[in-house]
Formats: sequence, structure tokens, C-alpha cells
Amino acid sequence: MKDNLNHRRDFLRKLIAGTAATLAVPATVLAETPEPVVPPVDASDEKYWEMIRRQFAMPPNLVMMNAANLCPPPYPVMQVVQQTLNDLGKDVSFQFRDKFDVIRQTSLQKLSAYLGVGQDEVCITRNTSEGNNIIVNGFDFKAGDEVLLWTENHPSNHEAWEHRAKRLGFTVKKISLPAHPASKEEIIQLFDKAMTARTRMVAFSHISNHNAIVIPAREICAIARSRNILTHVDGAQSFGFMDLGLKDLGCDSYSGSMHKWLMGPFENGVLYVRKEVLSRLWPQIISAGWEGVNQKADPWLGIVGQRNEATPAAIPECIDFHLAIGKKTVEDRVRHLNRQLRARLQERIPGVKFVSPEPLTANITLFNVPNQSDKVVYDRLYADYGIASASMGAVRLSPTIYNTMAEIERVVEAVAKING
Ligand SMILES: Cc1ncc(COP(=O)(O)O)c(C=O)c1O
Repeated sequence: MKDNLNHRRDFLRKLIAGTAATLAVPATVLAETPEPVVPPVDASDEKYWEMIRRQFAMPPNLVMMNAANLCPPPYPVMQVVQQTLNDLGKDVSFQFRDKFDVIRQTSLQKLSAYLGVGQDEVCITRNTSEGNNIIVNGFDFKAGDEVLLWTENHPSNHEAWEHRAKRLGFTVKKISLPAHPASKEEIIQLFDKAMTARTRMVAFSHISNHNAIVIPAREICAIARSRNILTHVDGAQSFGFMDLGLKDLGCDSYSGSMHKWLMGPFENGVLYVRKEVLSRLWPQIISAGWEGVNQKADPWLGIVGQRNEATPAAIPECIDFHLAIGKKTVEDRVRHLNRQLRARLQERIPGVKFVSPEPLTANITLFNVPNQSDKVVYDRLYADYGIASASMGAVRLSPTIYNTMAEIERVVEAVAKING
């Protein structure tokens, strides 16, 4: 593949020459697929994961270890986005764009199968923030009603509720967990005790992006359902990582972003709403394509007017890529990488402190080292070693399936050197 500079020179040369070829978008803009993705014969074989790593455009000098924030999409997804954008640059007729309606239905079918729910219960959003806000602003809660939140919730599932409560007069109550809960049973009990006769909704992050704790969602949703209380699960950190079935999870709604663990096209999300509660939820945006019938989540809640169709066009490829590896294999690998990372940090850096106890975490590793602040570690990891992380009072590393064991070692060595 020619590099971008050569490609631009070619393009300019043709432009100056004024040939008809100027109008055609050169194919070199498209990324390459190095080899087909197949299910692993042996998921413990590092060679398989090295092959997965080659499906991504990250150059060898960069290590992306911040899946909790944003993941690059693999080549097959990038190809569809780039090809679609190129095609739209040539033809925006209604006739050409008819195909996007078909792709949307295919996407809904694949997303709903992936989540184990009905096709009518899923809508495509732009991200988790949008999904959360559809829930926050869609119910008619009133004075006297209580909404129960976890203090660790993301602002789109926290401040958004407080703001709504100011307008409608309902009460927001918050559960805070001890820094190191003894067990998941302790978490379940705290949620259980906080639900009262006035509680109408329990809304929480499935996994906190701040302390990495996994909330026992299934148990909490079952308690809430038995008391006729709605549940909303913010799945930003579980969607695309956990091998989930939402009927089994038992929530009333669930939101996620495709550009995180699912490694999908940027700025696409999913919102699941259980069929039985869909009719209680008012839509926030009504535009062309909205059907006024609250039987299907997508036209009822997911229509926002004209979008950049190049990105949702790649949703089917993104799900296919993920399923070719396998949902369980993905979850197992991500857990394995995090366990290894934690164990190696512990061995290599005396005095390293982890934010949350290991049995309650899964896909996110948060820690502080004794000799440097998290901000210094975060800055130097990228500036000196090309490693993307996050800093939030602790260093956050969130490896996923495109990270290899060699990269885990690289990161641990880099942190050890920065610590001094
Ligand atoms: C728990 C949680 N909810 C919501 C979001 C927002 O995601 P997005 O920016 O894709 O809407 C994040 C982002 O990190 C998150 O961690």
C-alpha cells in the first residue's frame, strides 16, 4: 500500500493534469485486510492474538491500552466506512441511499441477536451518553418518586438525572460503596437496602470507568423487578467485552457505545429497551422517518435526522468481526490480559497500589506507583513510550483483544522505568 504522502502527490498530479481520473477516489485510501479472521483453535496461543493485532492499523511503535475510552476499528470496519464515504462523495441521490435503510435493518438484526433480545427492542444511537439521556428524559417521574443512582455513575447517568429531577421534582438518591467492598454480596445488599416503596428506577454503570468495579447487575435487576422497580444499566464498559445476554441480565434498558470494547465504527451506540416498557418512554427527537408507533425501539427513539451514514454502515462488519472471534473468547482474553497486567505490575513494582480488589474487577486496571503521580506516569507513557492510557487520580490501563502479551510486558517495563 502506498503511503499517504505518495497518495496525496498522485492525487494532486491528476488534479493538475485535469484528467477524468481526478473524479475517481483512488483505492489506495482504503486500508488492507491482512488475513481473514477465524475463530481461534487455541485461544491460549499467542500467535492467534498476534494475528488479531495485525487486523488493526496501529503502527508497532504505538500501544493502545485505553479501550475503556476509545478503540480503533479493525480494517474490515474501516474499509466499509471509507468506501461508503467515498461513494457518498460521488452520489447522494435518494436512490443510492436507499441501501442504508436495508443496512440499518441488518444492523438491528445483528445487534439484537448479539445482545439476545428482540429486534424491536433495540435502537441505534450515537453513543452511551445519548442512550442514557433517552432514558433519563423519557420517563414521566414526578414529585414523590425516587431514582436510585450509584455515586460512581458517568455524568450522562448521574448529573443528567439530577438536572431532570430539578425540572420534574422527583428525588435522586445515591448509593456509595466502600472503597474496597468485601464481596459482591455486600454490593447487592447495599442496593437492596436502598430501594424503598418510592423507588421507581435504579440506574447504574455495569462497570465503573473510575474504580473498575463490576456491579452484580443480574442480582440487582432481579430484586428491582420483584418490587416493580425499573432498572437502567449503563453498559459502556461491558458492551463488547462481556459475553452478555440482556434477557438473562434482566434489566429494563441497557446502553452502550460501539467505539469502545466492540471496536466498531466511531460515534455509534446501542440502546436496548424491554418491549414491555417501551410505551412508557417518550422520544426526545422527532424527525423524518419517525413513525409515531411505540412498538419498535428504533424508529420510536433512534431517529435523529441526517447522520453521517458512512459510520453506521459498518455496524454489520463490526459485529461479524467480533463474532468470528467469539463472545466468550473475547471476554476470556480481556480478563486474562488484565489479570496478567496486574500480576506483572505487582511483581515488578514494589509498593504498587491497586484502586479496587481483583475479584470485583474484570477489564480495567487502575493503580498508583510509589514514586510518581498518576499524571506523570500517564504523560510519560505516551510521550516516551507511545502507550495510550488514562489518568484519573490513578493510572488506568484497559487492554483488549488487539493487545498482545508482549505489549503487556512493554507497558509494565515502561511503568517500572518511569517509577524509577
Ligand atoms: C460508564 C460510562 N458511561 C458512559 C460513557 C460515555 O460514553 P460515550 O462518550 O461513548 O457516550 C462512558 C465513557 O467512558 C462510561 O465509561
